[in-house]
Amino acid sequence: MKVAVLGYGTVGVGVYEMLQAAEGLEAGPVLVRPGKENEAFKVSRIEDIVGDPTVDAVAEVMGGVEPAFSYAMAAIRAGKHFVTSNKALVAAKGVELNRAAREAGVSFLFSAACGGGVPILHNLARAVRTDEILSVGGILNGTTNFMLDQMQSTGKDYADALREAQELGYAEADPTADVTGLDALRKIMLACAVAWGVLPKEGLLNEGIDSLSAADVKDFMARGFVCRLVASGQPAPEGKVSAYVEPVLVRAGDAESAVLKNYNMARYEGRNAGPIAMIGQGAGRYPTASAVLRDLSGICVGEAAMFPADCVEGVADNSAAAHAYYVRLPEACADAFPVREVLAEDGETLRVLTETVSVQKMHETARALRKANNAVFFAAVREG
Ligand SMILES: NC(=O)c1ccc[n+]([C@@H]2O[C@H](COP(=O)([O-])OP(=O)(O)OC[C@H]3O[C@@H](n4cnc5c(N)ncnc54)[C@H](OP(=O)(O)O)[C@@H]3O)[C@@H](O)[C@H]2O)c1
Repeated sequence: MKVAVLGYGTVGVGVYEMLQAAEGLEAGPVLVRPGKENEAFKVSRIEDIVGDPTVDAVAEVMGGVEPAFSYAMAAIRAGKHFVTSNKALVAAKGVELNRAAREAGVSFLFSAACGGGVPILHNLARAVRTDEILSVGGILNGTTNFMLDQMQSTGKDYADALREAQELGYAEADPTADVTGLDALRKIMLACAVAWGVLPKEGLLNEGIDSLSAADVKDFMARGFVCRLVASGQPAPEGKVSAYVEPVLVRAGDAESAVLKNYNMARYEGRNAGPIAMIGQGAGRYPTASAVLRDLSGICVGEAAMFPADCVEGVADNSAAAHAYYVRLPEACADAFPVREVLAEDGETLRVLTETVSVQKMHETARALRKANNAVFFAAVREG
C-alpha cells in the first residue's frame, strides 16, 4: 500500500522513515509548504497527492483543523484511506470524516491522536465489538505529567517545571492546550466517541494544572497524596456521556502514582474484561509515528473504522459525576463549597477537603471565583 504523508515535521519525518522499512507499506509523496520541495519525494500541491492514482492512503501529520480537514475530505473522496495523528481535527470534524470515509468505502483511523504510542483507541475499538465499555480515561497528557512529576520530586515551582518541559521539547512554545487540560480533553472526546458512539462537543469541563503552586504540592504531599491530571469519560443518561479533565490527588499505592516523567497511562474498563491500563510514551517522533504505522498496516488487513457507523456529535452531561475535592482558596470565600474538613488556614488562605460535590458544580464555582479575581486550586480526591 503506497502512503502519502501530509506534513514533514516531528511526526512526519518519523512516519516517512518508518515507511521505508515497513512490511507491506511503501512511502509515497510528502506534502510540504511551497518553497520547501528540496527533495524529489516532496510536493507542495495537495492535487499532486489526491490526483495520484498510485497513492492508496494518506497519513495527515500537519496539525490544525484547516487545511487538514479539506485535504482529508479530498483524499477520502478520491478513494484514499485516511489516517491522522491530529486530535484537534478529529475532535472538531471526526463525525463528518467517519461518515465520508464509510460512504467512500475507505478506512479512517487515528490511533496516534489519543495516547501517542499507547494503543488505547486501537484496543478500545476492538473491545466495543464484544464488550460493554463502562469507562475510559487516564493520564493522557505527557507534558503535564512531566511537570507534575518535576514539581513533586524536586520541589520546583510551576514556572521552572514548565521551562524545563519546554527546554526538553515536551512542551510547545505556547503550552496553553497542555496546561489547561484542553489537549487531554480532546483525547477523551475521541475515546468517548469510540466507546459509545457520541463525540461530545458541548458541556465539556477541563481544569488543568496552571493554578498549581509549589506550596500546594508541599501541602498535599505532606498528607500522602500525589497529583495527576486525569481525563474521565463515562456513559450518562439519555444517550449522553460524561467527559471532563481535572487534577486528581491519588495515594502513593494507586496505579497513577507510578506514572512518571512524560509517560501516559490510558485505561478503560469493560464489563467482561474488567479494568485495563496501558502505560507508555504519549508523544515523541517515533512513538507517535509507530501508532500511525500501526493504523496503516491495520488497513492492509481490513481495519476500517474506529468510530461506529452511527457515531454522532453530542452533549456532555457531567452532573452525575461527583467527588470530594481538595481546594485552596481565599479565606473570604470559605462558604463557596460544603466543607468536610479544614486542613490548613493562615488568616489569608484556606485549604479544605469538601464534602462530595458534583464535577459540574466544582468547575463552575471555581470559574466564578476566578472571575472575581480569587486564586483557586482544586483537585478531586481519590477516596477508598
Ligand atoms: N509531536 C508529538 O509528539 C505528537 C504526538 C501525538 C500527536 N501529535 C499530532 O501530530 C500532528 C503533527 O505534530 P508535530 O509535532 O509533528 O508538528 P510539527 O513538528 O509542527 O510538524 C507539522 C508539520 O506540518 C507542516 N505543515 C503544517 N501545515 C502545512 C500545510 N498546510 N502544508 C504543508 N505542510 C504543513 C509544518 O510545516 P511548517 O513548519 O512550515 O509550519 C510542519 O513541518 C499534530 O496534529 C499533533 O497534535 C503530535
